[in-house]
Amino acid sequence: MQLSVVILAAGQGKRMNSDLPKVLQPLAGQPLLQHVIRTARALDPAGIYVVYGHGGAQVQSALSHEPVEWILQAEQLGTGHAVMQAMCVIPDAHCVLVLYGDVPLIRTPSLKKLVALADEGSLAVLSVNVDDATGYGRVIRAADGRLTAIVEHKDATPEQLQIREINSGIMAAAAGRLREWLLGLASNNSAREFYLTDVVAGAVTANHRVEAVRTARAAEVTGVNDKLQLAQVEALYRRERAEELMLAGATLADPARIDIRGDVKVGRDVFIDINAVLSGSVELAAGVKIGPNCIISNSQLGAGTEVFANSIIDHAEVGENCRIGPFARVRPDTVLHRDVHVGNFVETKASEIGVGSKVNHLSYVGDSRIGTGVNVGAGTITCNYDGYNKWPTVIEDGVFIGSGSMLVAPVRIGAGATIGAGSTITENAPAGELTLTRARQTTLSGWRRPDKLDDEEKAAAIDAALKPPPPRR
Ligand code: UD1
Ligand code: CA
Repeated sequence: MQLSVVILAAGQGKRMNSDLPKVLQPLAGQPLLQHVIRTARALDPAGIYVVYGHGGAQVQSALSHEPVEWILQAEQLGTGHAVMQAMCVIPDAHCVLVLYGDVPLIRTPSLKKLVALADEGSLAVLSVNVDDATGYGRVIRAADGRLTAIVEHKDATPEQLQIREINSGIMAAAAGRLREWLLGLASNNSAREFYLTDVVAGAVTANHRVEAVRTARAAEVTGVNDKLQLAQVEALYRRERAEELMLAGATLADPARIDIRGDVKVGRDVFIDINAVLSGSVELAAGVKIGPNCIISNSQLGAGTEVFANSIIDHAEVGENCRIGPFARVRPDTVLHRDVHVGNFVETKASEIGVGSKVNHLSYVGDSRIGTGVNVGAGTITCNYDGYNKWPTVIEDGVFIGSGSMLVAPVRIGAGATIGAGSTITENAPAGELTLTRARQTTLSGWRRPDKLDDEEKAAAIDAALKPPPPRR
């Protein structure tokens, strides 16, 4: 059977107390709905239908890049009503899998089990046993264990409230049958809504097979209705990603203190210290070491590279065996070749630094091309901006830049040149020579340090010194 996935995302999410529609609330930096769509896509379905309503335009525009069909549910009359909206466009011969935009940690193996049961003609629902079932629909079974109904928390008897097996909301069935059951729904319940969950009772009455797949992982079906649950799901997500990294060979100083907000690949024997934030697409090759409090996004780090505490690396390509930080800021379009050192309080942007070159202390390197074996002294700045335009700096192989130099771009420092400390370089410096700009050193003999003044003397001195000039005629 071909598969159609329906994702319910029309609810307002009142309990969020937020202007942002619930399904756009961020989990690991991406909308909840984005996570659900990603999981749906992994099943390779014939179509994905997102039922939207509340904050519709906002939801659609946030996810406009996704290959999904948008189905409007103009009025939110319940989950059953929401699925019905999508049924108009789904052929009877398809299998329908219903996912919830607010249940983001669901995984494909559980879904595949549901779809397989639906393909055999059953209505398959995903359930789980939890300690605290508050708010969830309860799974009602007959004495022989057969599933007979799902009862919403609000509608449950005190006895039913004791049941710990809850409905995840996620289910699968043949489209033709699902349509029949949905047409039989009524809204005579405490919420005055058409509950999707009532299709279970409908299927049982019609003598169709109903099966509950019980997953062992409560995390997978945790729903997000308020900010508290959002934080819980974030913590679960963090834990799952951390486990993946550890299984791939990374050592984490503390798996509870790492944030992974994207697609992170690690090689063997990577070490990541506490409070690392890794976002977007990040690749850490074998043996990379990340110090505490580092933020790395959309970057590749070559084997053996070490990043020391409190460094930020964004959209950069870093070669093998580099040393970065502590307190370095490697900004977008930085390319570091192998064995490069970028030290403390150094900022780089849109710059390429050649093999074995060092920029070790307190420097700004922007729009620059630095060759191999270059030493950029402490406090060197590439003055790349004239207030209107950005200009490039080229530093050729083997150059030595003395500390505290200003390189006023556009400017080129020829191969093997030496720049004297404290120079302001405005013209190209020739290869192999010493170039410097520096006022001559003088000594004033007989100079005396100032006397300590009392408050009155000091005030008088300030008045005299700061007196405005007489107006010009
Ligand atoms: C639902 C289930 C409950 C289950 C729980 C699991 C029903 C009646 N109840 O309850 O058995 O234990 O999920 O998390 O299905 N939505 C629409 N249109 C609507 C109403 C809701 O698209 O008219 C969407 C919401 O945006 C949300 C999802 O459906 O993504 C679930 O709705 P919600 O109101 O959160 O249902 P729960 O009370 O959590
Ligand atoms: Ca919910």
